[in-house]
Amino acid sequence: MKKLLDLLTTEMGKAFEKAGYSAELGKVTVSNRPDLCEYQCNGAMAGAKQYHKAPIMIANEIAAALEGGEVFSEVSAVAPGFLNLKLSEGFLAAYLKEMKTADKFGFEAEGKETVVIDYGGANVAKPLHVGHIRSAVIGEAVKRIYKFAGNEVIGDVHLGDWGLQMGLVIMGLKERKPDLVYFDDSYTGEYPEEAPFTISELEEIYPASSAKSKADPEYKALAMEATKKLQDGVRGYRAIWDHIMKVSVTDLKKNYGSLNVSFELWNGESSVHDLIPSMVDYMKKGGWAHESEGALVVDVKEETDTKEIPPCMILKSDGASLYNTTDLATIMYRMEDIKPDRIVYVVDKRQELYFEQVFRCARKTELVKPETKLNFLGFGTMNGADGKPFKTRDGGVMRLENLIADTKEEMFTKIKEGRPVTDEEAREIADIVAISALKYGDLSNQASKDYVFDIDRFTSFEGDTGPYLLYTIVRIKSILNKYTENGGDYTKAELGNAGNPFEKALGMRLAQFGEMMSQAVNELAPHKICGYVYDVANLFNKFYHETQILGEADEARRQNLIALLVLTRDILETSIDILGFSAPEKM
Ligand code: ARG
Repeated sequence: MKKLLDLLTTEMGKAFEKAGYSAELGKVTVSNRPDLCEYQCNGAMAGAKQYHKAPIMIANEIAAALEGGEVFSEVSAVAPGFLNLKLSEGFLAAYLKEMKTADKFGFEAEGKETVVIDYGGANVAKPLHVGHIRSAVIGEAVKRIYKFAGNEVIGDVHLGDWGLQMGLVIMGLKERKPDLVYFDDSYTGEYPEEAPFTISELEEIYPASSAKSKADPEYKALAMEATKKLQDGVRGYRAIWDHIMKVSVTDLKKNYGSLNVSFELWNGESSVHDLIPSMVDYMKKGGWAHESEGALVVDVKEETDTKEIPPCMILKSDGASLYNTTDLATIMYRMEDIKPDRIVYVVDKRQELYFEQVFRCARKTELVKPETKLNFLGFGTMNGADGKPFKTRDGGVMRLENLIADTKEEMFTKIKEGRPVTDEEAREIADIVAISALKYGDLSNQASKDYVFDIDRFTSFEGDTGPYLLYTIVRIKSILNKYTENGGDYTKAELGNAGNPFEKALGMRLAQFGEMMSQAVNELAPHKICGYVYDVANLFNKFYHETQILGEADEARRQNLIALLVLTRDILETSIDILGFSAPEKM
């Protein structure tokens, strides 16, 4: 379906043409003075110079040309030359009717790209902490936005599973349980199926070992050696690594799952280990990689740089690979295996320079085709009330699991307040609503900005929050249920002309769904969807307070209202599904 503003612009363009002016002057926008009109066109002002005519004269001619038309119910030319417009109720109703039956409410999904979204980025053997929430939540929304727009989208978690932290876990385990068969070099048999640690043990081993390595350089050297041995394929170490991965990934899947986040690919830095030698070879042969102080680097600075962009290091002087190396090899793998048109990285914005280096290196060494798009979507930090990165009450790093549990608890308390529900019911509802509180609280901010995590505000049923949206959806559902109980069939209800200004305002905002979605896609901006659903919810609630719905005596009019409710519900539910959360049946 054509976007509403485009239709209005076409109509206006025709009027300009009819009056002897260029159709290009007919651009219609949403009014910035909603007290005066719904839409406006400033083309007469723009045309004045070109046609050497007073703008008000042109505006008057356009208003006359539009007389008797079907699209606008009111066109007024006002000094010095604005065109104030009101949409005709009939035209709006016809547009909404078409939206209601069209696929994706008429949003033309033109995406034809294959897109890889690199998000999540968890490091195995460490629990997810609050710092991981943004990548997961934003990445999942971006993935769904791209999918909705018709693209083929693949999410890859890109685990941190190959660096020093693995050597640290291996050393930590060796300290605790030196007699394990994995550390016996002469052992040639099969290794046990069962991991020699639980997830909780694993989570203790890593921080202890990491702390020790900071205090004890000799220990750190051993951990680095263990990392190298692991990467070189020492059997016992690979077997431990397999255990770490299994235990850790099971736990990660559970945690991401509780946020309604899932990945098509569970690849990691380790997945491309075997590709590194051939990539290094290729970069050397191409003349791009050269030695610098023993290390292998690719220069990536450009003449136009205003700040220093250091070279991209491919191998350290001891031949070990780095974070860069696995990222570049991953690009190589993706280009060969998935052939994406675009790769989007949803990573902390503090890694922006790093990705600039990686992207330049990938382009320079022709790992990607010139037309392959590489996007860095950097996000800001989730802060506490003090404006510093969010911490636990005693100042420690907050585990994501605990943040989710705390939010669910808070939601449970709020659901119980003043509602006659059993604890069990309240828990079930609270679990769903809490996820909306967390995710909407994050997504409603522009990704690149920092935000303050405010559990009280995020879980509130009022204001710009997830629970407010869900509450609105549930309210609509309950009206529709009552309609059904009274013998109505809302699936058959037909839309009609708006009967009051509140109803019209809601309808006009619903009609903008396609425009809003295009923006969200083009700007990779989930917060645009948040702004939209919040608006729709507000407009709905105003309309609801001002309009008799089930109590409406006129049967045809009642049906029209019910049909508008159905469309509102569907647009809201579709939108929050794209954001990655859902509404309960009641709350
Ligand atoms: N594991 C990394 C970290 O904790 C994030 C991974 C981001 N993605 C990537 N392709 N480098 O910082």
